Parts: sequence; C-alpha cells; structure tokens
Amino acid sequence: MRIKYPPQTVDRVLIFDTTLRDGEQSPGASLNVDEKLTIARQLARLGVDIIEAGFPFASPGDFEAVQRIAETVGTETGPVICGLARATRQDIEAAAKALKPAYYPRIHTFIATSDIHLEYKLKKTRAEVLEIAPEMVAYAKSFVDDVEFSPEDAGRSDPEFLYQVLERVIDAGATTINIPDTVGYTTPTEFGALIKGIKENVPNIDRVVISVHGHNDLGLAVANFLEAVKNGARQLECTINGIGERAGNAALEELVMALYVRRQYFNPFLGRPPESEAPLTNINTREIYKTSRLVSNLTGMLIQPNKAIVGANAFAHQSGIHQDGVLKHKQTYEIMDAQLIGLADNQIVLGKLSGRNAFATRLRELGFELSETELNKAFLRFKDLADKKKEITDWDLEAIAKDETQGIDLRGYQLEFVQVSCGDHARPTATVTVRTPSGEELTDAAIGTGPVDAVYRAINRVVQIPNRLIEYSVQSVTAGIDAIGEVTIRLQHEDRIYSGHAANTDIIVASAQAYMNALNRLYRGLEQRALHPQARYARVHCSALGNQWGLFMPRLPPRTNCTDGTHGYLCL
Ligand code: KIV
Ligand code: ZN
Repeated sequence: MRIKYPPQTVDRVLIFDTTLRDGEQSPGASLNVDEKLTIARQLARLGVDIIEAGFPFASPGDFEAVQRIAETVGTETGPVICGLARATRQDIEAAAKALKPAYYPRIHTFIATSDIHLEYKLKKTRAEVLEIAPEMVAYAKSFVDDVEFSPEDAGRSDPEFLYQVLERVIDAGATTINIPDTVGYTTPTEFGALIKGIKENVPNIDRVVISVHGHNDLGLAVANFLEAVKNGARQLECTINGIGERAGNAALEELVMALYVRRQYFNPFLGRPPESEAPLTNINTREIYKTSRLVSNLTGMLIQPNKAIVGANAFAHQSGIHQDGVLKHKQTYEIMDAQLIGLADNQIVLGKLSGRNAFATRLRELGFELSETELNKAFLRFKDLADKKKEITDWDLEAIAKDETQGIDLRGYQLEFVQVSCGDHARPTATVTVRTPSGEELTDAAIGTGPVDAVYRAINRVVQIPNRLIEYSVQSVTAGIDAIGEVTIRLQHEDRIYSGHAANTDIIVASAQAYMNALNRLYRGLEQRALHPQARYARVHCSALGNQWGLFMPRLPPRTNCTDGTHGYLCL
C-alpha cells in the first residue's frame, strides 16, 4: 500500500533529527535497539518533524532499529521516519523494507558530488553521478513518496555541477534536497551564499524543501545553518548535544533556542512580521534538557560544562558582579529562562508512602514504558531509595528507569556482589562476585589505587576481556548529600569504544554497574562481530585482508576501502 506523503509546512523550520544515524557515528556512541527506541520516543515528545532512525543496509542491528522505530514511533500522529541509503539499489531496498511500518516513511539517498570524492572515493566521473543520482531517486520513489537526496560534500562541490545534479533529482521526484557540509569546511557567509545560489540557479527548486546538514570541524555548523535559514533553507539536520562524526553535527538545542530567543531577528526571513510570536519550529523546548540528558546517558557522550544551552554551567553565574546583577534583574545577564528548556521542571513527586501504581503512572508520564519485570525491579529500587532519601524527584525516577531499561539486552555478565574497603590508612581493596553468561558465579578480589580502581581490577580478573578505561565521570542527579550518583564510563577494546552508565546512591556500586554495562556491550559487540554475515563473507572472499577471521573482525579501521568491496565494513 502506498503511504501518504506528509503535508510539509515550510512557513516554519523543520527539525530533522539525525542523533540515531549521524549521531550514532560518534566513536563509542553505539546504542542497542532498545536504547534507540527510548531515544526515538523522546524525540517524538520533543516534537522533531523527522527522525533519521538509521542506515538499514549498514547492519542487521541498524535495520532492526529502523524497523522497530517505524513501527512504534512512526504513527499517524508521529514524526516522519527516515532511513539512509547510498545511491544503490540494495541500500534503497533495505531502507524501503525497514521503513515499511511507518505511516510517513522517507528514504534519504546520497551520492558525493565533490571532485575529490568522485576521484578518490567513488572513482566515478561527473557524468556518471549525473546519471546515477536521478536514477536512484526514481528508484526510491517507487517505494515511498517522500524522498530526500543529498549531494555529499556539497560544501566543496562545484556549484555549477551541483545545480545540474539537483535539477535532475528534483525532476526524478525528490521532495527534499539536503545540502551537506560533510567536512565542516565552509564559513557562514559561504554557506548562506551556497543556498542562495541554489535557490537562484536550480529552475525547479520551488518544488522541494531545502535542507542543510553540517559538521562542526571548525565549530561553525550552527552559525552556517542560521545563515542558511536566512537564505531559504527550511529543514535543519541536527543532533542532540551536537554528537556525530568527528567534531559532531549542528546541535539541535542550539539551533532551536537561537531561533526561539532571536525570533524577532529571524521572522522576516520567513516572511513574518518581526514581532510575530508564532514559533519558528515545532519543538517543545521544555523537553530539551531531558532529551539531552537521556542521549548523554545512553551514548556515554558527556556534555562539556560550558556547552551552550545544556551544559552544567549554561545557567550558572559565578562572578559576584553577575550574581548581583541577576538578583536585581534576571535579564541583566540572562537571555533565556532555564525553565524554557525544562531545567527547572524537577518536581518533587513521590515519597516513601507512594504505591506501585503512582510510581508506574509517573514513569509513563515521563515517557518510560517498562515491562512488568523491569517495573518490579524499578519499584523495589524506588522503595529502597525512598528509605534513604526523603524527597524523590522526576530526575531520580528517570535515573532508576533509564538504569533498568538499558540493562535489557546487555545481560551477559551480572554483578552479584561488590564490597570495598578503603581509607587514608588502608590499601583500597575490592571483592566482587560476578555471574558469567553461562551462569557460573565467580568471586575475586584486587587492590587498586583507589576504591573504583580496585573494583575494576577485581571485575577484570573475572571477566578477562582486555580493555582500557578511557573516561570515567560521576555526577549527582539532584542536589543534596542523599542524591543519586550517575556514573558514565567509556572503555576501549582494539579500535572500538564502548560506554556504560549506571545510577545509585552508592557511587562505588554505580561505578561497578556502569563498568559491567560497558563490558557487556563489549561482549555483545564481539559476539555480533563474530556472527555478522558480512564478516564470514570477508573471510571467504576478501584477499586484501589475508582471509583472517576468528571471533574478532579483521583489524581494519572502520570504513576502510577494500579493493573488492566485500569485507565486513561498509565502504562509504
Ligand atoms: O555528512 C554527510 O554528508 C552525511 C550525508 C549522508 C548527508 O552525513
Ligand atoms: Zn553527516
């Protein structure tokens, strides 16, 4: 059945969130299917117009995630669900199949247009690209009505060639054309001029929405996008907290708040009177902070304290002069209220006497759909916390719920017991008991430089998967001595990074659980790499790799080009 193409409102700016696709390409940010679903649900609550849910052909995991997001979040009242596909039939077919359950499916297909990409990466001529691009857009169009096309590395492409490609793909049925600054090279004035040039030189441009996509290599992505909006772009491709390839993508929260706080400045560029109060985006700004924390916790990508909008210091005033000014009149040093991004929506909601029903209802209101087993475990934790902490806030509840939901398919090794002894006259010593995937209970102990180091050494003695801890952070969820501590860690194994997160009032327990979660991701990752069908294919066919294959994938940097293209990594 042919699915309706969504009515696009271009008198405002469409927000296309690519946290689950480009954002997930950040080293170490990989998410499992349930975590992707949790984020997708929150993105829908945030009010994004389009969710780019993944790259279905890239891996079976990506395919499943896109399919499940299409099924559960891509409803009639939900956002457009988009899947990425290179300009090849097999990619487009995989995207179409994964997107099938979505009410509003979109295929986003791309091919590079810059000479440097054509010569060294694609080994194709301009004439070939000029043929492939419209052909693949038409092919995508045979599956869905809503087709987005991106000329990759547009920022470094010859504009005249770009105009020709765009005209042809629009004739072939593209509904959105997206202009990526793939390597984050352009400056705001240049990027604005590029969009203006496209508007003026592509004859059929009025039939499509102009979108922009950009990386932050020079820290200019958000500025570039705002300049693009002034010149006619009406869709912004961005990620929560600006995560993504290399230096990341343009940050959703920065774009949305710039368009909100400075709406009087931007209104005329969208044909509105400057004083218009109609929102420029569909985003519910009060969901921004919560979404930012969710993405940070699940990806393990920490937010720098001075990060605009969502950093811990973004609304903190340190100097006496600033504090004095803010006390006298808030706007002396504040251009937006913390409440606008949901920072102050930290209500005290439940207490010791609250029942299971009230607990479950509040979790549902916060957007957590827990299974019966998860809910039972979460409720026990809530009761335990309520014994230690008088006032339980939404953030405490979120910490518990996230902890319980992230564990679902990560249960390889389980921490059964952890105990430490430390102090200024003691050698930090830890004892742990871990249940292995085969159900065996193993106990070991170790001495470390501190209690966390001792715990990690003891766990390593049991689990025995080589790894290097590269990041460890602990943050309190709320103020007060009884607050829950959230621990986020990242560890490295070979060329890959894995993150783990856990929350507990005891930060040693949280540290141990976060480490177990990261180790379990590593363990699952090794299993998947060993089972991946393309991995087997690589062993048989790829002479460039010396036919090596065992439990681990051949040691290639990701996305290395392979001479015959059959290795287990995707050649982009
Ligand atoms: O950065 C880029 O060019 C991309 C495209 C696939 C849009 O991510
Ligand atoms: Zn990108």
